[in-house]
Amino acid sequence: MAQINDNFIKIPATYLFSEIAKRVNQHKEANPDAPIIRMGIGDVSLPLPDASVDAMIKAAEEQRHADTFRGYGPEQGYAFLRDAIVANDFAAKGLSIEADEIFVSDGAKSDTGNIGDIFSVNNRVAITDPSYPVYVDTNAMGGRAGEPNEQNVWSNLVYLPCNVANNFVPQLPTEKVDLIYLCYPNNPTGTTLTHAQLKVWVDYAKANNAIIFFDAAYEAFITEENVPHSIYEIEGATEVALEFRSFSKTAGFTGTRCGYTVVPKAVMAFAENGEKVALNKLWNRRHSTKFNGTSYVVQRAAEATFSPEGKKQVKALIEFYTENARIIREGLEKAGYTIYGGKNAPYVWAKAPEGMGSWEYFDYLLKEKNIVTTPGAGFGLSGEGFVRFSAFGSREATIEAMKRLS
Ligand code: MLT
Repeated sequence: MAQINDNFIKIPATYLFSEIAKRVNQHKEANPDAPIIRMGIGDVSLPLPDASVDAMIKAAEEQRHADTFRGYGPEQGYAFLRDAIVANDFAAKGLSIEADEIFVSDGAKSDTGNIGDIFSVNNRVAITDPSYPVYVDTNAMGGRAGEPNEQNVWSNLVYLPCNVANNFVPQLPTEKVDLIYLCYPNNPTGTTLTHAQLKVWVDYAKANNAIIFFDAAYEAFITEENVPHSIYEIEGATEVALEFRSFSKTAGFTGTRCGYTVVPKAVMAFAENGEKVALNKLWNRRHSTKFNGTSYVVQRAAEATFSPEGKKQVKALIEFYTENARIIREGLEKAGYTIYGGKNAPYVWAKAPEGMGSWEYFDYLLKEKNIVTTPGAGFGLSGEGFVRFSAFGSREATIEAMKRLS
């Protein structure tokens, strides 16, 4: 008798953004002419940088000829891209990361979801609340989350509430944890940690033999000083932290797919017999077994974001969305909303009107204003009473949405 992984029937039947897409499609079917503005999922609206497109065309041409054709590449990524990442994202900022500590992938979603493969189900997992749903859902799938209650709070997860009362800064857990998910600039709240606030977590991890999963997918949107772009800016982090990066939000690769994970060779965890094992070795084994590498053409496109032209074009994309975020922040404030985030991140976290739940307000905005947001409750219990606005839309749609809400 074939048996399923029962954890899959404990999790909500649909992934958050699939549920939202379903509701939006229902609304669209019932109102085919509705002028819908999408500020829900963080999907970019501007095209890829020219430098990346040119690189893809050139790489595609290479694939046409036997002497330049490439078949299977290294699962970890081509040296040209790993070296460019090291030089531009780390060495240029005085951070010492080596090319064999970079694992190129099809995006940070896959990597943050798959990383659990190399950890025991017995680990105690801490997750900021609210958080990107992939962290909770994949721990639940892997059997590390225990049982959910009716509010979808899992018995074995340690939630780290991030709310107005603590200024969205997670406090250290009162019980010992082994794996810690941190995403900064934060999805969904758009808030940040300072170096000192992040150092608290690195120190905790070192003192408790814990590992930090640092999701830095939104680092390119940081505008303020004293906000770390990488966890490796914190002393000692190369011993306790893995970092996830993405070209999706930075360079418009949401559909093209490319990201990478940094697994420093010094990061160790323990086998059941107490032996120390390098996570770099394990992740390499996992990655080369379950993944055959990001396509050559896409890796060339990613490499091109580090060329002088590519850098200029990426900067322009980031500035465009940052300006959208400012328009949203100011528009919502003017309309009387209480808002957070949006200064170092493409997301603005807005309080729903008093007495209205996240999903209720999401439905109201969809049906009455034709604006798609993301309900805060979809990111966890502490997200209840909020909705998230994404700044990745067109300028016209962003301005129009603020008009509708004023
Ligand atoms: C989001 O809207 O939270 C992100 O776009 C989702 C993702 O990156 O997968």
